[in-house]
Amino acid sequence: MIEFILNDKIIRTNTNKSMTLVDFIRENRNLKGTKIVCREGDCGACTVMVGELSQDQQSVQYHTITSCISPLANAEGKHIVTVEGLNLANKLNQVQQSLKDSYASQCGFCTPGFVVAMANYCLNNNADNEQQMLDAISGNICRCTGYVAIINAAKELVENCREQGKKYTLEQLIKHNFIPQYFASVSNNLKKIQSAHQVRGEKIIAGGTDLYVQQADSLLQTPDLRYITLEQGQPVIIEDNVCSISGLATVTDLFDNQELQNRIAHLQDFLRLLSSEAIRNMATVAGNFVNASPIGDMSAIFLALDATLLIVLNDESREVKLKDFFLDYKKIDLNKGESIAKLWFRLPTINSYFNFEKVSKRKHLDIATVNTAIHIEVEDNKVVACDLSVGGVAAIPKYLTKTCEFLIGKEINNDTLKQAIEVMNTEISPISDVRGTAEYKRLLANQLVKAHFIKLFPELVRFESDK
Ligand SMILES: Cc1cc2nc3c(=O)[nH]c(=O)nc-3n(C[C@H](O)[C@H](O)[C@H](O)COP(=O)(O)OP(=O)(O)OC[C@H]3O[C@@H](n4cnc5c(N)ncnc54)[C@H](O)[C@@H]3O)c2cc1C
Ligand code: FES
Ligand code: FES
Repeated sequence: MIEFILNDKIIRTNTNKSMTLVDFIRENRNLKGTKIVCREGDCGACTVMVGELSQDQQSVQYHTITSCISPLANAEGKHIVTVEGLNLANKLNQVQQSLKDSYASQCGFCTPGFVVAMANYCLNNNADNEQQMLDAISGNICRCTGYVAIINAAKELVENCREQGKKYTLEQLIKHNFIPQYFASVSNNLKKIQSAHQVRGEKIIAGGTDLYVQQADSLLQTPDLRYITLEQGQPVIIEDNVCSISGLATVTDLFDNQELQNRIAHLQDFLRLLSSEAIRNMATVAGNFVNASPIGDMSAIFLALDATLLIVLNDESREVKLKDFFLDYKKIDLNKGESIAKLWFRLPTINSYFNFEKVSKRKHLDIATVNTAIHIEVEDNKVVACDLSVGGVAAIPKYLTKTCEFLIGKEINNDTLKQAIEVMNTEISPISDVRGTAEYKRLLANQLVKAHFIKLFPELVRFESDK
């Protein structure tokens, strides 16, 4: 049995928990407003809102997900809002009205996804900030209207869902026709839901953003799955100079953590390069490691942060350095039934600097052709410590052991950088595939490592043409 609220109704169902949420919404509940286009999390047509009780249980916090790659099980104890759940009785809500006024819909297939994503922004935004609104709709693709009209509608909403610089309260959003009246009773109704979640099965599902793209059909046939995101845990803990991240933490948990942002400059800019807000809301850091894609962005970032993993099975646990976790193409140091409970790393200090670079065919909503991250500590212009990773140029996300060893003790200047790149070229072995030729990827890796140094040490390293 699984229990949750869908729009204004409490749902109790014994349906197969591993079916996708969108199939449950459309086929089981006959709510056809949520559309299916790609079934891979790429287009946003199936966007729904997910509300969870805040820690103090006084309010509900909402985020968006793509329901085509989310298991029904992950809805347990939550408030799921489809486009129908935002309708008012006799008129358009403010989001629908803004889209209409801006002529922002033609065939209308993408429109429910945009309505849900924009309404979610209006419920959540903390700053009078167009960037936040653009993040909110970053995973929604429109194939016929063009984005100018949609962005005009979005900008109008940024202005309209605030009063005297402050975001509207829930009551004000209801009063001003952004959301229907029933939202006022959701937090009380969520408190009544008894979560019957049990940890069962060896096969772990976290956000599902990899698993449901690759194996949605076979998951339907697997009876016992461990839906790990339903377990409890604080996502990010910072104590002294060490940051611990739970095995359940999503990319958004990092994105939203103010202290982490203070300690890692430009963190949000780096994380914004990972897919869209709706995917980041589901995608876990641990899932990115276990997927073991050679171009996983979290893998590249946490290799450069020299993270350590805590791997558990029942009462047993062991520690593994992330740089030792990747063994060969899609082979990792994780035995059957084991899970990543947490990871930790030392935060950058006053003398150390972190940077992440990624090149993909599209800047946003695309996986990398090549990515790389660096964490480098410097004293008197000399390298004291260095961790450097690169993805897309080997069978695994690559920690550049020899290049790091070479850099330690060296003065930072153009010659050192040139020699370091020569060492790196002996460590990588790119292959040609759909994302680019081997030569192109090697060139990218070279240029992106240069970019680290030019960005972090503009006074010590100058850009030089390769000619
Ligand atoms: C549209 C789209 C865009 C994407 N863009 C990017 C991108 O730009 N960059 C990028 O790097 N990735 C991208 N991804 C990939 C994906 O989002 C990440 O790999 C994500 O971090 C996987 O996490 P998850 O929680 O969804 O994993 P799931 O799909 O739930 O699981 C993935 C694997 O990890 C295992 N697992 C999960 N958690 C644990 C744990 N705690 N312990 C042990 N095993 C575990 C599962 O059993 C499974 O084998 C994208 C995916 C989609 C659908
Ligand atoms: S159908 Fe395209 S993201 Fe879900
Ligand atoms: S209105 Fe047709 S896809 Fe957006």
